Amino acid sequence: MGHSSHNACAIALAISCLIVAASAGSFYDEMDITFGGEHAKISNGGQDLSLSLDQYSGSGFQSKHEYLFGRFDMQLKLVPGNSAGTVTTFYLSSQGAGHDEIDFEFLGNTTGSPYTIHTNVYSQGKGDKEQQFHLWFDPTAAFHTYTIVWNAQRIM
Ligand SMILES: *[C@@H]1O[C@H](CO)[C@@H](O)[C@H](O)[C@H]1NC(C)=O
Repeated sequence: MGHSSHNACAIALAISCLIVAASAGSFYDEMDITFGGEHAKISNGGQDLSLSLDQYSGSGFQSKHEYLFGRFDMQLKLVPGNSAGTVTTFYLSSQGAGHDEIDFEFLGNTTGSPYTIHTNVYSQGKGDKEQQFHLWFDPTAAFHTYTIVWNAQRIM
């Protein structure tokens, strides 16, 4: 993610259905719910944050602080059936021009057709590193853990 001092990233997520457990601290202190009202909930004394989606609204959250490197685990269960037009995203992004970003996007599809996973990495405002693939399991049948590992050597 470049060598500049302004590449710390905030985490944002807009998601169909999610439960995250904080390894330290509290989601009350660390995260702002950005939209979705009742669809976004912090529970278990600040240790869990869950987002859900129905036919009326999704939900999202964003970290209050910026981070330089980290490991981010998300447990996601995607919308089953006709999910065309539903986009579940989980990304790290810095602010401003020439921003850096690490993206995970789950693109919904018509009933019976597979979700497309779309990933990208932006460095100093330049993306062009898209990758798209289909999963070898049904991401709508159960929660699965999706992870971004970001350290000084690599992004996985
Ligand atoms: C929807 O599924 C078809 C295959 O049935 C695939 O070619 C297409 O890329 C998928 N679209 C999205 C947005 O995932």
